[in-house]
Amino acid sequence: MEYTHVPVLYNEALEGLNIKPDGIYFDGTLGGGGHSRGILERLNGGRLIATDKDEDAISNAERTLSQYADKLTLIKDDYKNILPRLREIGINGLDGILLDLGVSSHQIDTPERGFSYMKDAPLDMRMDANQSLSAYEVINGYKEENLANVIFEYGEERFSRKIARRIIERRAVKPIETTLELAKIVEGCYPPKDRFKFGNPAKRTFQAIRIEVNGELKGLAEFVSDVALFLNKGGRMCVITFHSLEDRIVKHTFRELEKDCICDKRMPICTCNKRKEIDIITKKPICGSIEADKNKRSESAKLRIIERI
Ligand SMILES: C[S@@+](CC[C@H](N)C(=O)[O-])C[C@H]1O[C@@H](n2cnc3c(N)ncnc32)[C@H](O)[C@@H]1O
Repeated sequence: MEYTHVPVLYNEALEGLNIKPDGIYFDGTLGGGGHSRGILERLNGGRLIATDKDEDAISNAERTLSQYADKLTLIKDDYKNILPRLREIGINGLDGILLDLGVSSHQIDTPERGFSYMKDAPLDMRMDANQSLSAYEVINGYKEENLANVIFEYGEERFSRKIARRIIERRAVKPIETTLELAKIVEGCYPPKDRFKFGNPAKRTFQAIRIEVNGELKGLAEFVSDVALFLNKGGRMCVITFHSLEDRIVKHTFRELEKDCICDKRMPICTCNKRKEIDIITKKPICGSIEADKNKRSESAKLRIIERI
């Protein structure tokens, strides 16, 4: 299947990075390689390191970005593992970092990956096909309370307890194997009049299970903070998020990094040694739009930008 992903907030993110032709850049979420291509086009003497934990994304980029092979290093890994790997190859600072979080259109639109509640496929949802935990294990293996918590926390789903209960009842009869089986169970937990009031009722549960399977929020704050401090002076970091949970983590982490001295105001001298590390460039996030990006996912996209001082 052809790899398709229309990059979201493309111009805004590339402008936000303020690219120096001879700089060293990191794209943690390569996906279809749209943003990476934009960075590579602007480099002259510089270098881009790009990661994705999806093998499809890496092999697609090996083909489609082959003309930039001399300035591109592709690494199949979780972006959260990048700092030691950069040091290993002699990189001790970055001039720009891009994270365009979540799933790619390619992943959603490839039915057998099991991300979509619209197409029937085995429950999977792994970005990294080599990892053992899949949506099947979460749905058929988690205890009721854990399942309800995942659906509530990561899906902000008000019927989380009822959905978890129904899943447990169904799987006691036979394992829940496919995406449409799960989507039907969720649908049945909604009162008929509310079912399609806020889009497909399965949307929030699928988002929650996907976040759990891929550990999307685990360690995100620590990583954003560590990698921001790895920026060279004047270096920029752009993060695009797609739901409020991710955006909240990024916003708070940036605010912490921006704070200067957090001592009690009544203290005569500073004892905390906390210093402002970055400037927040976007006081309010830049929002995506379907019209501008020609990508439906753009509807909920938010871009936040910082600069290392
Ligand atoms: C929204 S897409 C990126 C699209 C890309 N910017 C483009 O222009 O095509 C997100 C990608 O990030 C990858 N991804 C998500 N979390 C990741 C992680 N922790 N480590 C590495 N890759 C990750 C996904 O596999 C997916 O391919």
